[in-house]
Amino acid sequence: MGAIGMRCNTCHGQANFDPAGVRYGVPGHPQWHIAPIEMAWLGRTLGEICEQIKDPRRNGGKTMQELIHHMAEDTLVGWGWAPGKGREPAPGTQKEFGALIQAWADAGAACPKS
Ligand code: HEC
Repeated sequence: MGAIGMRCNTCHGQANFDPAGVRYGVPGHPQWHIAPIEMAWLGRTLGEICEQIKDPRRNGGKTMQELIHHMAEDTLVGWGWAPGKGREPAPGTQKEFGALIQAWADAGAACPKS
C-alpha cells in the first residue's frame, strides 16, 4: 500500500481519473494496491512464473478454483483491460482470459519446463 502518508489511495481513487490535457490518466480502483514482493515476476522464466502462480505459499493462499475466479472475475485484475488514458489495454477481454485459464486448469495446469 506504500509508505505512511504516501498510501496508494492518497492519489489513486475509486476509478480511473482521465482529465483532459494529460498524457496519462491516474489509475483508480477501490482496492488499488501493488502485489507483494513474493509475487514478483521480474527476472523469472515463464516456467518459474507458472509454478509461482500455482503455489499457495506465493499466490496469496489461493486454490486453483480461487485463482480462476481471481483472473476471470476480480475487477482489479480487470483494470488491465480498461487501464485509462495513455495505456494500452491487455489483449482480448477478461472473459476470454478467464476461459483460457479455465481450459488450462481443466487440462491439468501444466507449466513450461523453462
Ligand atoms: C503521490 C501520488 C501517488 C501515490 C502515493 C501512488 N501513485 Fe501510482 N500513480 C500516480 C499518478 C499521478 C499516476 C499516473 C501518471 C503516470 O502513470 O505516470 C500513477 C500511475 C500508477 C500506475 C500506472 C503506471 C503506468 O506505467 O501506467 C500504477 C501501476 C500505479 N500508479 C501504482 C501505484 C501503487 C500500487 C501505489 C501504492 C504502492 C501508488 N501507485 C501510489 C500517483 C501516485
